[in-house]
Amino acid sequence: MQNAGGDHHDRGSIPSSAGTDTSVAAELATTNLKDDAAAAIPSSASDLKHPLRDRVLIRSILSRPDGGAALAGQRIRVLGWVKTGREQGKGKFAFLEVNDGSCPANLQVIVDSGKAKLGSLVATGTSVKVEGLLVAPPVGTKQRIELLVEEVLHVGPVDLAQYPIPKTMLSLKFLRDFIHLRPRTNRISAIIRIRDALAFATHSFFHENEFRLIHTPIITTSDCEGAGEMFQVTTMVGEAEKLQKGEVGVAAKPGIPQKDGKIDYAADFFGRQAFLTVSGQLQLETCACAVCDVYTFGPSFRAEHSHTSRHLAEFWMVEPEIVDADIQDAMNWAEAYVKYMSQWLIDKCHDDMELMDDKGCIDRLRMVASTPFERISYTEAVKILEEAVKGGKKFDNKVEWGIDLASEHERFLTENKFQKPVIVYNYPKGTKAFYMRLNDDSKTVAAMDVLVPKVGELIGGSQREERYEVIKERIMEMGLPLKPYEWYLDLRRFGTVKHSGFGLGFERMLLFATGIDNIRDVIPFPRFPGKADL
Ligand code: 4AD
Ligand code: MG
Repeated sequence: MQNAGGDHHDRGSIPSSAGTDTSVAAELATTNLKDDAAAAIPSSASDLKHPLRDRVLIRSILSRPDGGAALAGQRIRVLGWVKTGREQGKGKFAFLEVNDGSCPANLQVIVDSGKAKLGSLVATGTSVKVEGLLVAPPVGTKQRIELLVEEVLHVGPVDLAQYPIPKTMLSLKFLRDFIHLRPRTNRISAIIRIRDALAFATHSFFHENEFRLIHTPIITTSDCEGAGEMFQVTTMVGEAEKLQKGEVGVAAKPGIPQKDGKIDYAADFFGRQAFLTVSGQLQLETCACAVCDVYTFGPSFRAEHSHTSRHLAEFWMVEPEIVDADIQDAMNWAEAYVKYMSQWLIDKCHDDMELMDDKGCIDRLRMVASTPFERISYTEAVKILEEAVKGGKKFDNKVEWGIDLASEHERFLTENKFQKPVIVYNYPKGTKAFYMRLNDDSKTVAAMDVLVPKVGELIGGSQREERYEVIKERIMEMGLPLKPYEWYLDLRRFGTVKHSGFGLGFERMLLFATGIDNIRDVIPFPRFPGKADL
């Protein structure tokens, strides 16, 4: 796509206006109209304008195959933020590179000093809304179209001495301290659009395949993974604080309510302990066992004290639950879904993908979209890792049958050994959650993890234990109380059915797709230990 970097050719006079220099535009338009797709693209301002918007999206101008050339002569309004701006012709006019976030490219906007105080327009970050004529730039310039302003409708000025994100290239780490302003940068806005595309692709994939979207609860009383990493939801602390400040009646006792020497959760908001969900899976299973294939896509919360570049305290997860499916079926669905998203980005987000620092990311997506994933059992994976150790490979974590694979092991398998996505299945039961189906060897469960280059674990899933006696035994064996899981056991007591599912870490998919190194840069509002800005 053109214009992304701007193109300020020195010009001594105000550029030609619409209609007077359309030869280049006309030529380009004819060339491009040979393309069938171009023929369907609107060519008048009224076609470009959305009935509910007063302005035209810059994408609808610049993403045309002709770069917008055939639109010369159209009068339009645009709104955006100045990426770079400068006065020229001894202050007679200003060139502004304006971006409205609809695409990575900027529209070149030219304002004559008679229309506005140019000094207030050129600062990076200034918001502008302008009306003008699209004109063909002089031959030899990079742009195919630019906007000659007739009226300045709005200016939101910026004091450059105070604006924290000037036009110089800033590190992603630096930008994390300005999460309210970083969406204005090229890379973060590209990531936002890629994230949006992946979300759309997700809904499209599951709807094309007849899955129903289920909104599973964010506040839950069940610990799905049994890992004790849940954030508690309580109003007791706030109530106790109010008492301390004397804001409530003296009748109540100060402090958090106690009974028999323990916190009395019966006095809490829900009358019991409640948490933020770590996964919607258990609730999703109730719907799968009634309306068949379903999925959920929502935030998950984990109070892990991990400061890695792969973990967030709040992340988004896509979880399908598939009926009549065993572990092999779950692997097939997982592979199809990841391939679908990869192809979607190749087809629809090329311009944004090109802005990523990791220039290999498009090739990686192509590889994933077209290559069958490797599938190996956990036991085979451990053998491969042991062989590697024998061959001199050093891991920080010991390799032996029974361990939970560490990130370094996962990345070795996918990046070094196979150089493509790898699905590892049949893990030792001791490393996995209670709901995974026990295999006939009584040592392993029908679990599967999808490992991808750059990330390691992208997906975790399993066939669910559908046998009442076995799952009851597993819950007790893991030292979990039966009572809170009675409703889950009901799904096995009444009309049980084989089913499987998995969870894809949405930000991990973004890391994989974009090649960005840190998970904190692929979610608009990152939450991790010590940080929850905004
Ligand atoms: O492997 P996990 O823990 O699986 C589950 O929660 C299952 N209940 C899913 C299911 O079967 N429906 O998490 C699934 C995925 C992981 O593979 C990883 O990609 C991501 O969620 N994930 C995280 N992403 C970012 N930050 C964290 N702290 C994450 N923890 C897990
Ligand atoms: Mg996992």
